Amino acid sequence: MKKVGVIGLGEYLPEKILTNADLEKMVDTSDEWITTRTGIKERHIAEKEEATSDLAIKAAKQALSEANLSAQDLDLIIVATITPDMPFPAVSCLLQNAISAKKAACFDISAACAGFVYGLSVAQQFIACGTYENALVVGAEKLTSVTDWTDRGTCVLFGDGAAAAVLSEVKEGGIVATYLGSDGGLSELLKIPAGGSRNPASKETVEQHLHYIKMEGNELFKIAVKSMTHAAETVLERAGLKFSDVDLIIPHQANARIIMAVAKKLGLTEDKIYLNIERCGNMSSASTATALCEAVKEGKVKKGDIILLDAFGAGLVWGACVIKW
Ligand code: ACO
Repeated sequence: MKKVGVIGLGEYLPEKILTNADLEKMVDTSDEWITTRTGIKERHIAEKEEATSDLAIKAAKQALSEANLSAQDLDLIIVATITPDMPFPAVSCLLQNAISAKKAACFDISAACAGFVYGLSVAQQFIACGTYENALVVGAEKLTSVTDWTDRGTCVLFGDGAAAAVLSEVKEGGIVATYLGSDGGLSELLKIPAGGSRNPASKETVEQHLHYIKMEGNELFKIAVKSMTHAAETVLERAGLKFSDVDLIIPHQANARIIMAVAKKLGLTEDKIYLNIERCGNMSSASTATALCEAVKEGKVKKGDIILLDAFGAGLVWGACVIKW
């Protein structure tokens, strides 16, 4: 099997920023509540005419340029998203067309906040066994398009953004191990109830706000801590490593308190955790992707470092990935 690593990264965050002070004017909330309960101070918001593929295109172009590859070199494009431009075609196909990646096979992954980790794992298998040479994995979301701006329990949490990684064969390092898990029995805890074949869009579904994210926050909090801890332990075991070997953990950024609870269980100190939740909120599949991209660009990841991606989201799904940089 070939060794597979990340050879280029790119990120795009929309310019417009929504602060906690802005949210105080929209719903009954406070900067104090949002900050202490979640760790979020502000989030990026896409323009009305900007769709998920527009964010993905910008991140993808940057990642390709950093990888010194042209779009023609791509054999595979995977976009992890729960906010596609439309039910079909896939965002990956729209992205393929926009960047002229003519020979790439394209599909989307719906694994919510764990989508980027799922995407990395799938792309790795294709390259490792020699089916494809170069893959682009993107985590892209316009979560504000499915946010109920009248529900203070959810609207303070989400933001928009995208990040992309180019994967290819590497001589040293690369993805050491991945672990993916899910429990569909807990699907009711986090969902968008309408807009699919179960509840097609109608006047009633719109009036009942059923096209927005519905979440049992308390319950999810506990499961997120448990699942992310389990995913991190399992993937490290698969990698044959210990927590003391990990230089940086890049977790899904749903809630700073979830991340700190996981870190405590794993015995990791704060300096080993990368956070962008304060500036970005929860961007689902784009959270782990942008956090990886930013950590590398800020020089927090050096050659030879062991990094651990750890994510959890709607499905419920979870996943982790160990990469030697
Ligand atoms: N401002 C002020 N008060 C609020 C707000 C708000 N924005 N939201 C809720 N409250 C109130 C509630 O009404 C409640 O009031 P009450 O006690 O009078 O009834 C009180 O604050 C406490 O509410 P909780 O829901 O218990 O608050 P909690 O501390 O659990 O925090 C949160 C809520 C932030 C949502 C947390 O539960 C959480 O982060 N859960 C996990 C989310 C997650 O991991 N999601 C999965 C990934 S997302 C994805 O896949 C798309």
